[in-house]
Amino acid sequence: MTHTLSVIGTGYLGAVHAACMTQMGHTVVAVDTDADKVAGLAAGRAPLFEPGLDELLAATLATGRLTFTTDVSAVADCDVHFICVGTPQRRGEYAADTRYVFAALEAIAPHLRAGSLVVGKSTVPVGTAHALTELLRELTGRRLAGAAARLAWNPEFLREGFAIKDTMSPDRLVYGVEGDAKEADIALLDEVYAVPLAAGTPRLVVDLPTAELVKVAANAFLATKISFINAMAEVCEAAGADVVHLADAIGMDDRIGRKFLGAGIGFGGGCLPKDIRAFMARAGELGADQALTFLREVDAINDRRRVRMVDMAREQCGGTLRHKRVAVLGAAFKPDSDDVRNSPALDIAAAAQQAGATVVIHDPKAIPAARLARPTLTYAEAVEDALTGADVVLHLTEWSDYRDLDPARLTALVASPSIIDGRNSLDPAVWRAAGWVYRALGRPHA
Ligand code: UDX
Repeated sequence: MTHTLSVIGTGYLGAVHAACMTQMGHTVVAVDTDADKVAGLAAGRAPLFEPGLDELLAATLATGRLTFTTDVSAVADCDVHFICVGTPQRRGEYAADTRYVFAALEAIAPHLRAGSLVVGKSTVPVGTAHALTELLRELTGRRLAGAAARLAWNPEFLREGFAIKDTMSPDRLVYGVEGDAKEADIALLDEVYAVPLAAGTPRLVVDLPTAELVKVAANAFLATKISFINAMAEVCEAAGADVVHLADAIGMDDRIGRKFLGAGIGFGGGCLPKDIRAFMARAGELGADQALTFLREVDAINDRRRVRMVDMAREQCGGTLRHKRVAVLGAAFKPDSDDVRNSPALDIAAAAQQAGATVVIHDPKAIPAARLARPTLTYAEAVEDALTGADVVLHLTEWSDYRDLDPARLTALVASPSIIDGRNSLDPAVWRAAGWVYRALGRPHA
């Protein structure tokens, strides 16, 4: 059975969720306070680069079942409401700012009909769902009396670059439900997710705090795995060992697994760095701060990798970056994304410039976003323009475009054929054979 759903917030998560829910057969009203974003989406323009999203928006808008609006009263016909607004890091603090989540609930509350279900998808500090349940009761209890609106938590796990696949066929669905009507909530969510469930997606039913924690625990684990291999990279550098071979070898133990053992300049983006900090802050509030002190180290290892990359560039330039030209390949925090939030690549580019270098950055998709975030850096539309006259090339985002470069053809462009692979994804043998000095984090300097 299909439903009429609302999606509150049309950022990365909301835009993808709204389009995918329409694709699954539902009728969707997506609401945002940002009129420009809404107008763009209504015209089929995604607010960010995500492979396949423009096509999916075009197809789902054409069904007539997907609408974007700034008018929150449009949610009145919906029986399920997904809250997909952001929870950024608070300025000057580690904690997450949940004000948009509360504001979203307050905005929809007057329009909720009896028996409707509000489903939180935003990443929130544990305990938020209970506070929202309380608020929902206060806001709608008297008006809806016997058939009160209810709240469930259904975290998302989407990865940028794979967001559509992760929504259409997720690894798992987690429902956080509580209260007398929880069986009805489960049944309703099962109808909403009938397509992935029919395809065999496992679904777990848990309480509200567990559902909130699943998301941050998953991200904390992924961040820890990356920082673990980056810590091994530090040891490898000191011992003359090779972290890529080490990762290959330990990754063959299927208890460990090779995924997320990519050593390099570390993690960035809108989720991992923010989520581990918010998790530490919340654990502190709960009196469980000791349990997560290791995440402080995870964060510190990650930051150190950025510093190490700049140091290595300095070494390659004979001890100083002053008056040197540095070509930076990649600005996005990862490939197949134009997201530059907390991007290691942009941070390193800015630090190299600060150290006196002339830095020119290329990225296949993220230059507009990077220009906004770091307007004082220099950008090149063509990779050749970034490379021309470079004393050192820093490979910082592993776009396939860079793997496809022919190093032999590039030697004529640069001042010195010297590359540092910050993502350990280029083939050292190919670059060295073409006459380049190839260095990488955590690998021997041949
Ligand atoms: C992450 C989680 O994977 C996703 O489940 C959650 O919903 C949101 O946060 P995302 O931020 O899109 O997704 O990126 P992810 O693919 O996890 O990569 C995060 C960062 O880690 C990137 O900067 C990436 O370059 C880096 N990374 C990843 C490594 O440095 N090494 C690796 O082995 C893997």
